[in-house]
Amino acid sequence: MSAEQSMEEVAVPRDGYDFVVVSNRLPVDRDVAEDGSSTWRRSPGGLVSALAPVMAQRDGAWIGWHGAPDETLEPFDHDVFHLVPVTLSELEVTRYYEGFSNATLWPLYHDVIAPPEFHRTWWYAYRRVNERFARTAAETAAQGATVWVQDYQLQLVPRMLRRLRPDVTIGFFNHIPFPPTEIFSQLPWRRAVLDGLTGADLIGFQRPGDAQNFQRCARKYLGAQFTKGTAVMSEDTADGQGTTWTVHAESYPISIDVDSIQELADDPQVQARAREIREELGNPETIFLGVDRLDYTKGIRHRIKAYGELLHDGEITVEDSVLIQVASPSRERVDSYRQLRELVEGMVGRINGQHDTISHTAIRYLHHGYPFEEMVALYLAADVMLVTALRDGMNLVAKEYVAARRDRSGALVLSEFTGAAEQLKQAILVNPHDIDGLKEAILHARDMPATEARKRMASMRRQVLTHDVVDWSQRFLDDLSSHAGGAGGPEHDAARPGDAPSGADRG
Ligand code: G6P
Repeated sequence: MSAEQSMEEVAVPRDGYDFVVVSNRLPVDRDVAEDGSSTWRRSPGGLVSALAPVMAQRDGAWIGWHGAPDETLEPFDHDVFHLVPVTLSELEVTRYYEGFSNATLWPLYHDVIAPPEFHRTWWYAYRRVNERFARTAAETAAQGATVWVQDYQLQLVPRMLRRLRPDVTIGFFNHIPFPPTEIFSQLPWRRAVLDGLTGADLIGFQRPGDAQNFQRCARKYLGAQFTKGTAVMSEDTADGQGTTWTVHAESYPISIDVDSIQELADDPQVQARAREIREELGNPETIFLGVDRLDYTKGIRHRIKAYGELLHDGEITVEDSVLIQVASPSRERVDSYRQLRELVEGMVGRINGQHDTISHTAIRYLHHGYPFEEMVALYLAADVMLVTALRDGMNLVAKEYVAARRDRSGALVLSEFTGAAEQLKQAILVNPHDIDGLKEAILHARDMPATEARKRMASMRRQVLTHDVVDWSQRFLDDLSSHAGGAGGPEHDAARPGDAPSGADRG
């Protein structure tokens, strides 16, 4: 019997919450003043702004890690949130967060762009930390509550939580891609991960293709028979009666908080800042912009290579154009991220060294995070947005750029390997591995007649404006409540999934 199977039910808490979100990070960031005192600030991002009103309406709590190792914080309230911090030790940060989440699952789920590492010690930590999150959720949720678990760091939580609290309704959303069977199969703990996910009533994915990949994997390794996205799951219980439930897998492409971006785009101060940026750059004809976490999935190297070649070919000059590349620091203690930083900074240094003049720089490389106002000012200043990810669950930057362009000007070069490409079909779609194709797309974006640009942007804006992140969360939560309790309780006549093939899978 595996560790999670031995987990016993948890008593329903007296002051439980009706709606509980569980994610690796809490939706707040901490600002520490010089005197050591700290204050919390709501984290930027669509998920947090979409769920804030739901939290306020439905008596909600949010469970997550507060970002510092070896620190235990009591639950606390901040704006509309009741926050329940989960403690992670320094070793768990290394093995669960940096290790299994970001050096095993992240590269595996992103087409093995970097080689995933498989270490049993990391897996044990991942399982232990998932158990802690599940237990915290079980101790926080009211009778019959809805619990929504977020993302790849917590894939074991749904099944663990179902064992601890069979009365709650469980949703899971995977923000990143779900890989094809051929890649997922590499994971030594593939069966345990699928077991974990299928504990949910509803599993959401970004693209229909991700939901299909998941269903194929669950069929292959758990014997789950999906019909129209639904499968019946069952499990033995201590009382010998067994339990069944249905799990449904479907795509729910995430979006952005359109209103807050449009509000900033309308703000005269933000608009003035956009003009100032252009002036400070010497009023170039074309401002190209890239905005990414410094992550190897984002195709920053490919973008810079293409841009460097265009400068070399004389198609672009430092006088007429500039590329602003915002690369916000991310996961800096993980090897592949360190290596990427060296590579990117080496490339930028070489290109700038070769092409800069005293007054003009080819690439403004900014290794910082910026406040959201500044990001929107950059979106307003940029004539061409470059999104060249090699694989990306969605890519919200592409949607943010579109939402900010209220006058329908501007062009978006968008990798076909992003979830966003399935919705923003009027972008200039590229295969970022094809450097010549990417160069052509960059020039096409720059030289596109204004009428064509406006037509494309208008169509993309229609898509983004009618599908914002509030719609996304409502659609998911509505479906979750309609899928809740699809089967359940003692096993009756519901078909058991076929026996999973035996093999060397370790749980
Ligand atoms: C991606 C993941 C999120 C994650 C974010 C930032 O968007 O899907 O779950 O929070 O990257 O990464 P970090 O490791 O800093 O939380």
